[in-house]
Amino acid sequence: MIIIGCGYLGRLVASESASRGKPAVGVVRSAASAEAARARGAQPLVLDLERDALDALDCAGRDLFHFAPPPSSGLEDTLTARLISAFEQYGHPRRLVYIGTTGIYGDCEGAWVDETWPARPTAERAMRRWDAEQRLREWQRASGAELVILRVAGIYACDRLPLERIRSAQPIVAVDEAPWSNRIHAQDLAAVCLSAMERAPDGAVYNVCDGNPSSMSDYFCRVADAAGLPRPPQIALAAAPGKVSAGMLSYLRESRRLSNRKLLDELGVTLRFPTLSDGLADCFGRS
Ligand SMILES: NC(=O)c1ccc[n+]([C@@H]2O[C@H](COP(=O)([O-])OP(=O)(O)OC[C@H]3O[C@@H](n4cnc5c(N)ncnc54)[C@H](OP(=O)(O)O)[C@@H]3O)[C@@H](O)[C@H]2O)c1
Repeated sequence: MIIIGCGYLGRLVASESASRGKPAVGVVRSAASAEAARARGAQPLVLDLERDALDALDCAGRDLFHFAPPPSSGLEDTLTARLISAFEQYGHPRRLVYIGTTGIYGDCEGAWVDETWPARPTAERAMRRWDAEQRLREWQRASGAELVILRVAGIYACDRLPLERIRSAQPIVAVDEAPWSNRIHAQDLAAVCLSAMERAPDGAVYNVCDGNPSSMSDYFCRVADAAGLPRPPQIALAAAPGKVSAGMLSYLRESRRLSNRKLLDELGVTLRFPTLSDGLADCFGRS
């Protein structure tokens, strides 16, 4: 098994895989990430997938997780393009499970969205993700290898909560004006990744979220409550430009409620944290 981009999520998957007696190779860029991957049972391989020669990447016939994000600018995922070229030169994996984002749906005006909803990415980061999906689909058709695409919502976990942001009292949009957003607990996501590798039908696409959408503002307030911190100050949506970061602003331009029905029915996954309350109770013993 190979984990391309063995960061936070990769380490969770690597450690579960090692405990099942299948240690993974974890591809990272930095020495620090290599050490962290090793500590979780992965055999690290340090490579910059955007720059280095990729002949050391032996993927032929292997199970491969692709968790590395696209470059931070442009409309294309040149990292995924390079990875596909490496497969063509040095051998194709048996199956590739790709982590993309639900941002590819763009603004859905609060509608419930399943995997048949058309892709209409508007943010550049989502366009790069859509580019990756299309490249991978093309590669799947041409190579005959297997592909599963996971469109992932906002990832949270006990050690990935926005506590610093809350402590610094950065403003949020008023709860009653905030658009819908969606989340998944990192541990559930790691379990979904392993199930997708083991038993998803070839070519399947899944929304990966807990199925209980709320808004980003509700999320910040509930994390603050659970952590015993003051809730962030609330501002009107119209006042957000200039008062929240450009990244946050781009999330505020999109509203959708994601269905995880297909994930639950077809993969037979039982989420450990089906609601934010479950996740926060695990972190703080209450929520
Ligand atoms: N944050 C969210 O809510 C969210 C939502 C949906 C999807 N996602 C996506 O889910 C995936 C996994 O997330 P994560 O939290 O595990 O991310 P992460 O901790 O940042 O891990 C990403 C890994 O990719 C490696 N990487 C990046 N560029 C590389 C390159 N050019 N060559 C080799 N390795 C490279 C990094 O290596 P170094 O550490 O050595 O740089 C790191 O190990 C990411 O693609 C993320 O964008 C995130």
